[in-house]
Amino acid sequence: MTLRINPSILAADFANIERELGRIANADLVHVDVMDNHFVPNLTFGPQMVERIQAVSPIPLDVHLMIDDPERWAPGYAELGAASVTFHVEAAAAAGSDPAAIARRLRDLGARAGIAVKPGTPVEPLLELLPAFDQVLVMTVEPGFGGQAFIAEVMPKLDALRAARGRLDVWLQVDGGITRETIAVAAEHGADTFVAGSAVFRSPDPAAEIEALRAAALAHAG
Ligand code: DX5
Ligand code: ZN
Repeated sequence: MTLRINPSILAADFANIERELGRIANADLVHVDVMDNHFVPNLTFGPQMVERIQAVSPIPLDVHLMIDDPERWAPGYAELGAASVTFHVEAAAAAGSDPAAIARRLRDLGARAGIAVKPGTPVEPLLELLPAFDQVLVMTVEPGFGGQAFIAEVMPKLDALRAARGRLDVWLQVDGGITRETIAVAAEHGADTFVAGSAVFRSPDPAAEIEALRAAALAHAG
């Protein structure tokens, strides 16, 4: 069973981003939270910054777009070389966009295509779209901020996704409030890709924390 630990640089020191990336070189991908102050009430950075992060990162980028109109903006992140680009189904729906068409474009540009759901959004409508995607992100907090508490009530969504995925190679990602304790819960429900911001970057030894999270997930992977 392959598990991935993707630290979120939302919790890193932005003034020393290259050094911060060096501290997580043993992780699988670096999770990059793009927020536009519309889809979520917080603002981070756009393509120019992400391109620089990509240039200095020792590991591939896992871009999480918390922005309106993903059909317009998501392909640019694939073009700049992100390994994976995930957009929110709620944002696509609000813009009247077809999620599968956005996913096709991302794949054509060489990125893994991901779709994300907020805690209150059901996954049933997504199940038939799974072949179009390489990753589904089940948010375990309301998107917008790091440091929030894990919402265990969304775990049945992972159960449904795992059952529907069958033999498809679709990664199941969780994001928000992941610690050594909550990662075990998510792993039991079938998550295989774990985003952790505060747990990693607030640790005195981020690389060791990544290995501790990996071990905790492995011990509970079902
Ligand atoms: C929240 C972001 C998360 C955030 C997670 O909107 O999508 O990636 O950085 O941070 P922690 O691990 O602190 O909950
Ligand atoms: Zn995120």
